[in-house]
Amino acid sequence: GRLGRPPGLAVVQVGEDAASSIYVRNKRKAAAEAGIASFAHDLPAATSGSDLLALVEQLNRDDRVDGILVQFPLPKGLDATHVMDAIDPSKDVDGFLAANTGLLAQKRQALRPCTPHGVIRLAAAYGIALRGLRATVVGASNIVGRPMALELLLAGATVTVCHTGTRDVQAEVARADLVVAAVGKPHFIPGDWIKPGAAVFDVGINRDAAGKMVGDVEYDRAAERAGWITPVPGGLGPMTIAMLLANAVQAADRLAVLAHGVAEGAVFEPAGEPLLAALQRGLEAEGGEGVADGGGRVAGGVAGDLAPDLAAAALDLVRPPKTRVAL
Ligand code: GUN
Repeated sequence: GRLGRPPGLAVVQVGEDAASSIYVRNKRKAAAEAGIASFAHDLPAATSGSDLLALVEQLNRDDRVDGILVQFPLPKGLDATHVMDAIDPSKDVDGFLAANTGLLAQKRQALRPCTPHGVIRLAAAYGIALRGLRATVVGASNIVGRPMALELLLAGATVTVCHTGTRDVQAEVARADLVVAAVGKPHFIPGDWIKPGAAVFDVGINRDAAGKMVGDVEYDRAAERAGWITPVPGGLGPMTIAMLLANAVQAADRLAVLAHGVAEGAVFEPAGEPLLAALQRGLEAEGGEGVADGGGRVAGGVAGDLAPDLAAAALDLVRPPKTRVAL
């Protein structure tokens, strides 16, 4: 690129939560595969709040770092809200910060939360027109459910959000043309709740009693009824990582515009190995062995065009939909 450096992504992990370690490894690997410079910071579980904030401040100031991701959950005693409030919003590649959530709520989306954005991009790629659809989001967390509802609203759906106070979750799911499950409980949504032909996006990554990785939706039975359904593993997992990398490149581009006054989209020129192919290999390797070295590759692509390509790459890795049923 014209900057003479690739986009940079810092991924911070505190402690050794087993699931987090897998997610973090996959994110770093995909970044390196895509030619994004990956800065790994692994801190002990006993790290103090002030030491963690000091690291965030240092990354905020580091010109090589365009994106900062602090993996959640944090160990007990560390306050996620304090950490988020310390990250520079222009480097918030998770899209978790109050500033970025607020912009999304006002239809002024900047860096968008990765999983919800991934759902929207998958829907677009499969030709699911969201405007006017009845959408039910199950789960109201700050990192998936709430921003998911905002994304669907932005896309013109009529949105219901289910949470612990919801009286009849089954009824809300059963009338939905589109369901997003973001609960974090294995098979929380029985397949026979799904309306025939509905689109089902399963964000859950859980272990069932036998230790097998399963989603929040009872997949086999739901797949008999749904028009579209994302698998676990392999659906929103890789899609989330693709959106993270897209955010890192978008952040790099915007920061370069600010720092160098060049036109947006002009900084990271196509160069070296195409980002897309590298990303695809990175995602294929997800959960597998082949770790790539990121070895000095230059990021290719122009930020403005990049995200659709990333989505397309991730899409190829999602199992093809079953029969498509008109909603
Ligand atoms: N924990 C679970 N999912 C995520 C994510 O997308 N980003 C971060 N930072 N932490 C998470």
